[in-house]
Amino acid sequence: MTKKRKILVTSALPYANGSIHLGHMVETIQTDIWVRYQKLRGHHCTYVCADDAHGTAIMLRAEQLGLTPEEQIANISAEHQADFAEFFIEFDNYHSTHSEENKALSSLIYTRLKENGHISVRSVTQAYDPEKNLFLADRYVKGTCPRCKTADQYGDNCEQCSATYSPMELINPVSVISGATPVAKDSDHFFFTLPEFTDFLKDWTRAGHLQDEVANKLAEWLDGGLQEWDISRDAPYFGFEIPGETGKYFYVWLDAPIGYMASFKNLCDKTEGLDFDDYWGADSPNELYHFIGKDIINFHALFWPAMLSDTGFRTPTKVCVHGFLTVDGKKMSKSRGTFINARTYLDYLNPEYLRYYYATKLTNTVDDLDLNLEDFVTKVNSDLVGKVVNIASRTAKFVAKSGGVLSGTIAEPGLWQKFIDAEATIANLYENREFGKATREIMALADAANEYIAEQAPWSLAKQEGNEQKVLDVCSLGINCFKALMTFLKPVLPITAAASEEFLNCTLDWSKPLAFLGEHQINKFKPLMTRVEADKVQAMVDASKEEAKVNTSDSASDSWLAKEPIAPEIEYGDFAKLDFRIALIANAEHVEGADKLLRLTLDLGGDSRNVFAGIKSAYKPEDLIGKRTVMVANLKPRKMKFGMSEGMVLAAGPGGKDLFILEPHDGAEPGMRVM
Ligand code: 2FM
Ligand code: ZN
Repeated sequence: MTKKRKILVTSALPYANGSIHLGHMVETIQTDIWVRYQKLRGHHCTYVCADDAHGTAIMLRAEQLGLTPEEQIANISAEHQADFAEFFIEFDNYHSTHSEENKALSSLIYTRLKENGHISVRSVTQAYDPEKNLFLADRYVKGTCPRCKTADQYGDNCEQCSATYSPMELINPVSVISGATPVAKDSDHFFFTLPEFTDFLKDWTRAGHLQDEVANKLAEWLDGGLQEWDISRDAPYFGFEIPGETGKYFYVWLDAPIGYMASFKNLCDKTEGLDFDDYWGADSPNELYHFIGKDIINFHALFWPAMLSDTGFRTPTKVCVHGFLTVDGKKMSKSRGTFINARTYLDYLNPEYLRYYYATKLTNTVDDLDLNLEDFVTKVNSDLVGKVVNIASRTAKFVAKSGGVLSGTIAEPGLWQKFIDAEATIANLYENREFGKATREIMALADAANEYIAEQAPWSLAKQEGNEQKVLDVCSLGINCFKALMTFLKPVLPITAAASEEFLNCTLDWSKPLAFLGEHQINKFKPLMTRVEADKVQAMVDASKEEAKVNTSDSASDSWLAKEPIAPEIEYGDFAKLDFRIALIANAEHVEGADKLLRLTLDLGGDSRNVFAGIKSAYKPEDLIGKRTVMVANLKPRKMKFGMSEGMVLAAGPGGKDLFILEPHDGAEPGMRVM
């Protein structure tokens, strides 16, 4: 075995305002497999995480729930930790960014940056909510795009025409939080002078800490010129007050990565022999790995190494970036039931299934990973139940017949040699986060073992007297192959590995080269894993759809929805003029050149209408065809860029994917009047 490494590993810290979902699980499962692999090889590997507890979103979420932010983050922390634990994510420590350790370290880092002349102060004009007395981040302001006049656009850019602007340039801007009209207000902000680190970062990003594709992306930003980074927010803000200032707080992203250090510090303080400086000192000989998603590269590969290098700390050995999760080839969707919370998954399915499936799909690139629900069922059943566990279940009974003691003879040295030869390859694949390739190598070995057993057919041999030793030799090799396979899979399947250890009556140890068991007593075989049931997968999807309907989600758009001011009162006569009708969506199709519109052919029970509806962000045409909805049938036809629109369909929601056409019950026939 090579030298024992000391490695500190982190996953990105989940925000304390929402539940863990299967997207988060890609990262924690990836990290956990890597950490378990390192531990299995005998290295000293420490895995820390925490909740990312600060910021406006968490403050507002707590308010919405009638809780203090402290209560909110305590509840969510318990929820997050329970979810992770049931997926067998084995953190060595789980802390919070709202902690004493983080406060002290954030202060220290800020003070050093300031002493080194890397903090500047200047006045910034921002949208301000005069009702809530709160500065509004861009996503908390909505209004009409100043360029193309599309309504309901966020404060930074227009989804329709891609114009970028500042929130106060919107026509009729509205605070998403209170519904009030924001005003422009100045205040002093603190900036980290990132451009001064350009040369350092140009070197650092090319020094082997990043995947090439990540380094290339960063090179574009570095060549385009870096901006100073605004690290302060004004009160009210849930976070740490900036030392020496009043009413100024660290922006959540300033203290979030410092939360990695804080969680480790918290662990050091309760662990004999674990030394903070040994891992974080500028000259630390040890390794630091951050696992993150591709949306937060700038924070981890620009701001973070710059801050660390300037304040006497080491920079990461590697920042390992993964892609996003898609489900059945598409972005996770609440209406399709593919936005699946960790808890919902756990209510229906064995966590090891997902650990294995993700492992088969994980690479060391930033490519997105697809959870194909049909493939999930097939792969888990065929690989784990059909191939790996099958080897043990087919051979164990014959060993049991001979008293449960394995034979020391390697019946087919060529087969065993395949396992020995693959060991280093599989190890390298794990080390390099090529888990998909590793599982394929492992399954190829399982295939070889199964073929051997099928050829030897111990069940036939056993029918003839005198074959006892041959049967035992064949099955003992089968059991040894199973042991090797489960050793290789131990980082992915910790629970099945533990059950296999019980059956094999030995530890699956990979700190030493693979060894044949020899004459060794094993225990009674018990089923190690059951098949995935496809109807459970469907039940999980259905439950996710239901949750999406009842859940008040965490998105800012929901609070906007609840608090959007009611329009001025109208007379009954105005209302009575509207003729609402049930319409059958006979056809729906994309409109070439239109970003938001779908062309609907609506059947009013004989009368057919052509209507352009701005619901493309929320619906695929094929999902609409055959649905009933409600339309305003007496609206004067309007000439639009793409043709005449003869009416309007009714939809509810703040926009984007959260837009829902009304769907009346089946008894409502096309053409019926809606009252
Ligand atoms: O993007 C996120 O979900 C952040 N909460 C991740 C923070 S990672 C680290 F820097 F703390
Ligand atoms: Zn626009």
